[in-house]
Amino acid sequence: MSHAPRGALVDSFGRRHNNLRLSVTDRCNLRCVYCMPAEVTFLPRAELLSFEEIERVTRVAVTLGIDKVRITGGEPLLRKDLSRLVMMLSAIPGLVDVGLTTNGISLPQHAQALKDAGLKRINISLDTLNPAKFQQITRRDDFDRVIEGILAARAAGLGPVKVNAVAIRGFTEEEVVPLTAFALEHGVEMRFIEYMPLDAGRTWEREKVLFAAEMIAILEAAFGPMKPSPDNDPRAPAVDYDFVERPGSVGFIASVSRPFCMSCNRLRLTAEGKLRNCLFSLEETDLRSILRGGGADLAIERAFQESVASKWEGHEINTSRFIQPERMMHSIGG
Ligand code: 5AD
Ligand code: SF4
Repeated sequence: MSHAPRGALVDSFGRRHNNLRLSVTDRCNLRCVYCMPAEVTFLPRAELLSFEEIERVTRVAVTLGIDKVRITGGEPLLRKDLSRLVMMLSAIPGLVDVGLTTNGISLPQHAQALKDAGLKRINISLDTLNPAKFQQITRRDDFDRVIEGILAARAAGLGPVKVNAVAIRGFTEEEVVPLTAFALEHGVEMRFIEYMPLDAGRTWEREKVLFAAEMIAILEAAFGPMKPSPDNDPRAPAVDYDFVERPGSVGFIASVSRPFCMSCNRLRLTAEGKLRNCLFSLEETDLRSILRGGGADLAIERAFQESVASKWEGHEINTSRFIQPERMMHSIGG
């Protein structure tokens, strides 16, 4: 709190926002069931913010205390020459961290360019090591390409490389051990994310979530005891557990069983320039009309401040009051 900049993004619950997630497209070359419908109409190209517009928004946000960004989608590598955006963002003074979340399919072609552009952190989504189950969850046949993508990220020297799996009851129980063994073998970090209600079919139920505590029990049965990592960042959504009897750790994002809204430091910009103050927001702020209407940086600043000022305490997934937003995960970016 000591060096909060002028106009810092502190909300009415005292949460200071330093983290901005930038969705660059709602398109994807997979169709994961928890994120998208099988058939989907994507935004017309002209609706998407240009890299220059994204850079401008980020530059203003950095003056308000944002120091970390993560590029997301849809699948961000479907934007032509994404490493140019990585380079533009990396050049913003005061921005200390540019990350990327991808499904990994295009990494064999792009990992080296991304590394050369200054990218460090990369998260790759992979829910299973079983090709048939991969096809079932993603509705596509690209399992081998994702594995090659993970290996390409490692080979290019990107790091840390994290592998994200959505934790779904009836699907993930049998994946926890093989995915973790794969991660340990290849020097990447495995992270399990409790399934959240942002799916297309609106079929999410609390009973369909595989909880972090259950996954820890499965892992302990296979690899021996685990304990919370001593260097866990209390503001980060992931809680890391270390193996006691062997090297290695596994991360858990327990969004449903242990909500972390109290320490939320994130804002989100959608591909068409809507600012969202929560993954589950029902309202958003249109920055694109400011950008394309000749608005000054001050107008962007105000929009950020007003959005943060109106932020609610947190999602109510575990209550009957919960309302699922219209947007599905692929058009928010996670
Ligand atoms: N619940 C939890 N995680 C999800 N993701 C996508 N949809 C969901 C959901 N409904 C994850 C993806 C990706 C990240 C951006 O969000 O697996 O790793
Ligand atoms: Fe694509 Fe990621 Fe959504 Fe899967 S979760 S459909 S990889 S955007």
